Amino acid sequence: MPRMIMGIESSCDETGVGLVRLADDGTVELLADEVASSVEQHARFGGVVPEAASRAHLEAMVPTVERALVTSGLGLPDVDAIAVTAGPGLTGALLVGVSAAKAYAAALGVPLYGVNHLAGHIAVDTLQHGPLPAPCLALLVSGGHTQLLRVDDIASKITEIGSTVDDAAGEAYDKVARVLRLPYPGGPPIDKAARNGDPEAIAFPRGMTGPRDAKFDFSFSGLKTAVARWVEAAEARGEAVPVDDVAASFQEAVADVLTAKAVRAADELGIDTLVISGGVAANSRLSALAAERCAAAGIELRVPRPRLCTDNGAMIAALGAHVVAAGAKPSALDISADPALPVSTISI
Ligand code: KG4
Ligand code: ZN
Repeated sequence: MPRMIMGIESSCDETGVGLVRLADDGTVELLADEVASSVEQHARFGGVVPEAASRAHLEAMVPTVERALVTSGLGLPDVDAIAVTAGPGLTGALLVGVSAAKAYAAALGVPLYGVNHLAGHIAVDTLQHGPLPAPCLALLVSGGHTQLLRVDDIASKITEIGSTVDDAAGEAYDKVARVLRLPYPGGPPIDKAARNGDPEAIAFPRGMTGPRDAKFDFSFSGLKTAVARWVEAAEARGEAVPVDDVAASFQEAVADVLTAKAVRAADELGIDTLVISGGVAANSRLSALAAERCAAAGIELRVPRPRLCTDNGAMIAALGAHVVAAGAKPSALDISADPALPVSTISI
């Protein structure tokens, strides 16, 4: 069985390379996690520019692989398998990682595993907290996705039980940051501003929480619009916008809905472990409120450290290791990137 697995991630604006060691008992140990980000190139556009991201991946790929090898003290001949994000994500960006992974796999004569980025966000938690209990519930909150997932086996069975009907949670953070003239990506500056604000200053709407709404789906578009309208109205009155209070009140609305629905889903499905992951899981209020509500409901909460929550290569290496351990067949060398790969397809 392959022991050393290299993971390559390039679905959005982070070029990530991770190295993990898979032990006989199935535990996975992190050896290196190197990330090169092109986020600064996109900041002035307020969102990722796909063409620029692809070009940045091309430039960063080989140096990032080399940095990961140096950090781990390994050489390329020590690598036993290559895992790569096959989707979902930006097609051009994904293709850079998939092409690099194929080249490394072919040159080294090792198996290639094309894996799912979303499943990687969940698998990364095993690097910090050990094997996942089965089943567990995952709340995946990133720039592109907001989903509640039932995870029966991280290598082979993930079922969606709810998702956003419009914006992703991270997308709402990025759009609200723009309204508040905070930098892109919006999550970190809103998180910071919110610390000095009053979360009860403004009663922003909690989307999809009415009695007739799908109980495990989410909506953040109305919240985003409500924040924009509130700020416009304050500006029209010639008032200074209380950025800290708006940030705190918006953040409270997001954290409230996400945690209430996740705890309710765990309760109704009879699942006693909740994993929260993806870039928005790095949010301080989300993890604090989740800890409070999970403790009250008797649910064990697992949130990877912030560095593991945002896009990285370690998550792909970790998922690759679980897929290898499960005895899955390697991918063919002619696999393509799938920008819309569903979360239920964990490896291709
Ligand atoms: O998982 P990720 O790195 O990339 C995707 O797969 O989308 O998530 C990026 C998203 C961005 O929208 C960013 O604003 C958000 O995660 N984010 C945060 C925080 N850090 C990153 N949102 C809220 N609070 C944070 N501390
Ligand atoms: Zn992601």
